[in-house]
Amino acid sequence: MSAFVTGASRGIGLALVQGLLRQGRRVVAAQRGQSQALQALHQEYPERLLPVKLDLTDEASIKSAAAEAETFAGDVQLLVHNAGIMHPSGRGENSVSRLEFNAFSQVLATNVLGPAMLTKALYPRLRAAAATEPSKVVAVGAGVASLQGNQAGGWYSYRASKTAMNAFMKNLSIEGARHKVMAFTLYPQMVDTALAKPYVKGNPYPELRTPEETAERMLELLQSFGPADTGRFVNIWSKEDIPW
Ligand SMILES: NC(=O)c1ccc[n+]([C@@H]2O[C@H](COP(=O)([O-])OP(=O)(O)OC[C@H]3O[C@@H](n4cnc5c(N)ncnc54)[C@H](OP(=O)(O)O)[C@@H]3O)[C@@H](O)[C@H]2O)c1
Repeated sequence: MSAFVTGASRGIGLALVQGLLRQGRRVVAAQRGQSQALQALHQEYPERLLPVKLDLTDEASIKSAAAEAETFAGDVQLLVHNAGIMHPSGRGENSVSRLEFNAFSQVLATNVLGPAMLTKALYPRLRAAAATEPSKVVAVGAGVASLQGNQAGGWYSYRASKTAMNAFMKNLSIEGARHKVMAFTLYPQMVDTALAKPYVKGNPYPELRTPEETAERMLELLQSFGPADTGRFVNIWSKEDIPW
C-alpha cells in the first residue's frame, strides 16, 4: 500500500510519514525545500521512502510530484493533504483592515487550490488502487473552518481556506463514492508545531499534543474508517463530527 503525504518536511506531516513507514507502507513524502529530518529518514528507509519536491502554489510542481509518485509507487491508496499555512507572516489577520491580496492568495493556493489540483493529478492512481481496496484522501483540517463554531472571528484567510477545503473534501466524498475513493477531514486540536507556536498560550484545550501522538491517532482512526465515514469532518480525539 502506497501513501502520498504533503508538508512532510516537519510537524504533523513528518510524523505521519514516520508512522506510515513503521506500518510497512511505501511513502512519497512531499517537501517544498530540503528537510534534514526527511533526508535522515530516507537513509533509514531507502527502498520505501521517496522524498519529492512540491510547492502547492505552483501547478507545474504539482504535476511533476504526481508523476514521480506514479513512477515510484504505482497506485496510491492514501493521499494526505497535510501541508498548510496560517499566513505568510505567521499570524492570521485579526481585522479585515489587515487583509493583503497576495498573502490571502498564497493561503488559498497552499491550503485549497494546490491540494485540489494534486487530488486531480493523483485521482487516476487513487481509483486504480481502489480496485483492490477502497482508497482514502485525508485533509488535516482546522476547527476554525466550522462556520457554526465561529464565535471569535479573526484569521480571515486561514478560516476561509479551511472552510473551502472542507467543501472540496465533501464534494470529493460524493464523487469518490462512485469509484471507491473515500474522503475525510481530520481535526487534531492544537499540536505543538511551528504553525501553532504563536497561539500556544491561548490553547483552548487541556493538552498541547505532540506531532507524533497526533499522527499515531490519525493513522489509527484512518484504519478504522470505512465507506460509512466518508465525507466526515471529525475531531480525532473525541471522534465526534464537527458542525460545518
Ligand atoms: N498545529 C496545529 O495546532 C494545527 C491545528 C489544526 C490543523 N493544523 C493543520 O495541520 C497541517 C500541518 O501543519 P503543522 O501544524 O504540522 O505545521 P508546520 O509544522 O508549520 O508544517 C507545515 C507544512 O506545510 C508545508 N508547506 C507550507 N507551504 C507549502 C507550499 N506552498 N507547498 C508545499 N508545502 C508547503 C511546510 O513546508 P516547509 O517546511 O517548506 O515550510 C510544512 O511541511 C496544516 O494543514 C495545518 O493547518 C495544525
